[in-house]
Amino acid sequence: MIHIIIFPERFYYLACFVLNQTKSFMTIQERKKTITLNEYIIQNQTAFPRAKGDFSRLLSHIGIAGKLVNREVNKAGLVDILGDAGDTNVQGEDQKKLDIYADEQFIAALKASGVCCGLATEENQEHVVFDDNLSRDGKYIVCMDPLDGSSNIDVNVSIGTIFSIYLRKSAVGQKAQEYDFLQRGDEQVAAGYIIYGSSTMLVYTTGQGVNGFTLDPSIGEFCLSHNNIKTPDDGRIYSINEGNYVRFNTGVKQYIKFCQERDEKTNRPYTSRYIGSLVADIHRNLLKGGIFLYPETETHPNGKLRLLYECNPIAFIVEQAGGKATSGNKRILEIEPKSLHQRVPLYTGSKQMVNKVEEFLVNEKQVVAKV
Ligand code: AHG
Ligand code: MN
Ligand code: MN
Repeated sequence: MIHIIIFPERFYYLACFVLNQTKSFMTIQERKKTITLNEYIIQNQTAFPRAKGDFSRLLSHIGIAGKLVNREVNKAGLVDILGDAGDTNVQGEDQKKLDIYADEQFIAALKASGVCCGLATEENQEHVVFDDNLSRDGKYIVCMDPLDGSSNIDVNVSIGTIFSIYLRKSAVGQKAQEYDFLQRGDEQVAAGYIIYGSSTMLVYTTGQGVNGFTLDPSIGEFCLSHNNIKTPDDGRIYSINEGNYVRFNTGVKQYIKFCQERDEKTNRPYTSRYIGSLVADIHRNLLKGGIFLYPETETHPNGKLRLLYECNPIAFIVEQAGGKATSGNKRILEIEPKSLHQRVPLYTGSKQMVNKVEEFLVNEKQVVAKV
């Protein structure tokens, strides 16, 4: 005590020293808790006993391309990369410059991985074949929406990337064939999305739960932030482009009215949330509980969303998180694909909400059948 009164500055220095030590100790402790995407993949490689690191390589290359796309998305307002590229993609929709950039980055990254023999993307009419010696031996193929929600780029709203990974069906050493890509969703070995939002996240599943990694821009690494994501069994959010209301079938219209009805027991009316970027709408509903609907309409008789690189990967993730995904009359993951850019209606999210919309859709079919 006397010592502190006589030499107060010594006490001050001692206190600073102790505080600093504690701080550095805590920093070390915190760092220990950080698991990067690459570390996580390697730790969990045992799930693929015969993978010999190929799968880790593939996913890590997707992560690298994701970081490059993220960099461009973040500076989109600063450079001449905004706006239409003046071309249209295979569905006749306007291609944005970032769509093309993202497509090129993912193609380059997957080729560089040396373990992927080809991929199908939204931006290419035919599947892309990697015909170099290394890639021909690659056992994986990938289906991908390189940039999802591109109409939202110009207005600074969340966009994403969606991917789906399969083992090839054709023989190793040959060129990838179209049938390699026309596999049912339940054959996916992994699927994921990257959301370029208020923070950037990579969420993926290998069929053993869903994990989310947030990009820490200070170290340039995706770090495990959402371990074993489980979606609530029920929710209060419904996500649908209600502007299409008049074009929906009666079942969907009735379900929307159901969501808007007052009922204290079921906590209705529900909340309507629709961003217009599939990845962002799904990500929110996955974490908070809810349902996403993109039904068939007069103008889009099979819905708008693509089976191979939008619905299948999302369905795999949602199911792995405990939710459900259906086209209205079939589980998404059991649909036999007929073509690369095939569209299907999508109803996905919290189990109880999807079950409810199914009741309305079944009733609609029964009424139509009687007429
Ligand atoms: P993309 O930008 O890859 O073409 O996808 C857009 C999709 C999807 O992200 C979103 O859910 C849906 O289009 C929105 O469609 P509407 O504008 O018809 O609601
Ligand atoms: Mn899309
Ligand atoms: Mn797209």
